[in-house]
Amino acid sequence: MSALGLRPTVDRAGLVTDIRSLRADFPALHQDVHGKPLVYLDSAASSQRPQAVIDAMVHHEQHDHANVHRGVHQLSQRSTEAYEGAREKLSAYINAANSAEIIFTRGATESINLVAASLGQMCLGPGDEVLVTRMEHHSNIVPWQLICQRTGARVIPAPITQTGELDRDGFTARLTKNTKIVALGHVSNALGTINPLQDLIAEAHQAGALVSIDGAQAGPHLRIDVQALDCDFYSLSGHKMFGPTGIGILYGKRALLEAMPPYQGGGEMILTVSFEDTTYNALPHKFEAGTPNITGAIGFGAAIDYLSAIDFDALAAHEHDLLEYATNELLRLPGAKIIGTAAHKASVLSFLFDKIHAHDLGTVVDLEGVAIRTGHHCAMPVMDFFKVPATARASFALYNNRDDVDRLMHGLRQALEMFS
Ligand SMILES: Cc1ncc(COP(=O)(O)O)c(C=O)c1O
Repeated sequence: MSALGLRPTVDRAGLVTDIRSLRADFPALHQDVHGKPLVYLDSAASSQRPQAVIDAMVHHEQHDHANVHRGVHQLSQRSTEAYEGAREKLSAYINAANSAEIIFTRGATESINLVAASLGQMCLGPGDEVLVTRMEHHSNIVPWQLICQRTGARVIPAPITQTGELDRDGFTARLTKNTKIVALGHVSNALGTINPLQDLIAEAHQAGALVSIDGAQAGPHLRIDVQALDCDFYSLSGHKMFGPTGIGILYGKRALLEAMPPYQGGGEMILTVSFEDTTYNALPHKFEAGTPNITGAIGFGAAIDYLSAIDFDALAAHEHDLLEYATNELLRLPGAKIIGTAAHKASVLSFLFDKIHAHDLGTVVDLEGVAIRTGHHCAMPVMDFFKVPATARASFALYNNRDDVDRLMHGLRQALEMFS
C-alpha cells in the first residue's frame, strides 16, 4: 500500500506493474515550489526516497542504533543484523555469487576510487594502460588518472560519436596488450547512452584486461546481473536508487578482492595489529575500515526491497514512453537541440536552445516549479566533444509522468518568450 493509501496493481509474481501508482510513495514530490506543484526532473543527480526507505532509517535510529560487529549486547546485534541484512539484499539483487563480494562505500565515487587505488596498486606499472571512454563521469576518469600518476601507467580515452555512442572501432583499436583495466560507464549521466556492456566486457576480457563498471546511472533503470555480465567490478550509488546519500557499493569478484591490498587502514579491516605484523580481516570487512554508514546501508537495503517489488519490464516501458514523449515535445520547440541521441538511452534528456544559456533555462523553469539540472554534469570531456559549455538536463525516474513533461515544456516556452 502506498503512503497515500493507494493499492498498486500487481502481477501474478506479486510485482508492481502499474508504475504510475508509485508516485504516491514519494512524500517529497507532493509539495509546492514557488507556489506551483513540484515537478522533479533531476533524478540523475539524486532521486527522491519512498516513505518505506525513510521509515526504515527512522526505525533504525529510534530503536536499534549501536555500532556493528563485535558487540555482545542486544542493540549491537540488531544493528549488525540489519546492516549485514542490507548487504545480503544487495548481493541477491545484483546476483553476486557471494555477499562477501559486496563492499559498502560512501557512493559510486568512493567505489571507483577504491578499485582504482587498490587494483591499480596491484596490477599497474610503467607502460600499462587504463582504457576509459570519453563519455565518463569525472568519477570514472580522475581516480584512474590519480593511480596512473602514481604507477607510471596511462589513461587512454576511447572516442565517442556525434550521437553520443561509443565508437566501437575506436574502442577496439585502443584495446591493446598494454590495456590492463577497462573502466566503463553502464549508462552515461550526461547523454543517457546505454553502453553494450556484454559485448564490451567480453572483448576486454579476450584482450586480457579486467573490467570495472560505473553503474551509478544504471541502478534506477536497469536490472543488473553481475554474473551474467561477467564484469570484474561494478559500482552503485544508493542515492540514485531511491536510497539515502553517503552510501554505495562496490561489487568485486571474490578472487580479485582477496588478492587486492586494503584501501584504507583502521578498525574493522584488521584481524590482528602489532608493530611487527598486522594482518587483515576477511572479505568484505578488509575494505570497510572504520565505523560504516549503518543507517545509510539500512536505507539502501530498504530501497532494494522497494525496487525488488517492481516489474522492470513495466518500468522500462514507462520510462521509454516518457523519454520518447519528452524528446518529441522538445523537438517541437524552435531552436531545440538534443545532445545525446543514441539508439539505446536511459531516462536522460540533455538539451540546449540557440542563444539561451542553460543556466537561464534552469532558472526560468525553476520559477515554474520544475527542477532540472544545468551545467557540465561532471562530464567536461563530453561538453568539449560537443563544443558546448553546458547543457540543460531533464532526467526521469519511475515517479514521473507525461504531465511532468508538459509542465517542463510550458516552462521552456516561457524561457523562449523571455529571451527571444
Ligand atoms: C555516471 C556517474 N558515475 C558516478 C557518479 C558519482 O556517484 P556518487 O554520487 O554516488 O558518488 C555519478 C553521479 O552523478 C554518475 O552520474
